[in-house]
Amino acid sequence: MSNTPLPWTLESIDFASIDPELARANDDLVCLICASSFIESGSDLYAANLVAHYEGDEDVQGWLRDQWEHEELQHGRALATYVRHAWPDFDWDAAFKDFFAEYGAVCTAENLEDRRGLELAARCVVETGTASLYRAIHGLTTEPVLKQLTAHIKNDEVRHYKYFYKYFREYEAREKNGRRRVFGALWRRLMEIRDEDGDIAIKHVFAYRHPEYNQSKASFRQAANRVNDIVRRNLPTEMTVKMLLKPLDLSPRVNNFIQKPLTRITERFVLQ
Ligand SMILES: [Fe+2]
Ligand SMILES: [Fe+2]
Repeated sequence: MSNTPLPWTLESIDFASIDPELARANDDLVCLICASSFIESGSDLYAANLVAHYEGDEDVQGWLRDQWEHEELQHGRALATYVRHAWPDFDWDAAFKDFFAEYGAVCTAENLEDRRGLELAARCVVETGTASLYRAIHGLTTEPVLKQLTAHIKNDEVRHYKYFYKYFREYEAREKNGRRRVFGALWRRLMEIRDEDGDIAIKHVFAYRHPEYNQSKASFRQAANRVNDIVRRNLPTEMTVKMLLKPLDLSPRVNNFIQKPLTRITERFVLQ
């Protein structure tokens, strides 16, 4: 266990006060939270790969091991506890076990960027994704416990982003990857998270909650899109675009020039 105190604790959340009716009212949202709880709970696997990638860098390794990993795992535990209250009949442990068997096989060190600085830039994409996800859920839910929980988690994710960004800047000063390579790393990770992890997690949520959704590729796609649409429709686009662009270190003039149109394009693209 970490020696560094966590910024908030599971015990400080009053799960008993969850209104189960309200929590269950949006079944797609609970599917999304459950899928997120699986990915967060698998963080120790990712953390082990990342820690090994930064062999010899005590600063990065120490932060990953002593803070980041524990905070991500706490996200997993907190979201799983929420799901258990919303869906008392759902066998979270069994579903997670199945998920982990598949996720563990695809979540390997091969997926990491070879250059350490570029991997840190890619991690900024992942933290942008989670910060946006929890901010979206925070904005849309009317269930008070979930609102409080996602406030804590989104703050953690933004802080993770800031750490990865800080370390990225330090590595970039030495590695001098340049904008083109950094862009490549951001783009690759963006495409990867869009395709893989989410679908695996949602598939295993459905397997226990809605097995009928997994019966054909078409019905899975339809149901998974419905779950993903929750995020798309509530995406804090301006924040997301800003965070994604930051590692490119564009001049303020270029940044101002592309940020607004890019936000509008993203909105049009994702909100239609
Ligand atoms: Fe997280
Ligand atoms: Fe995070």
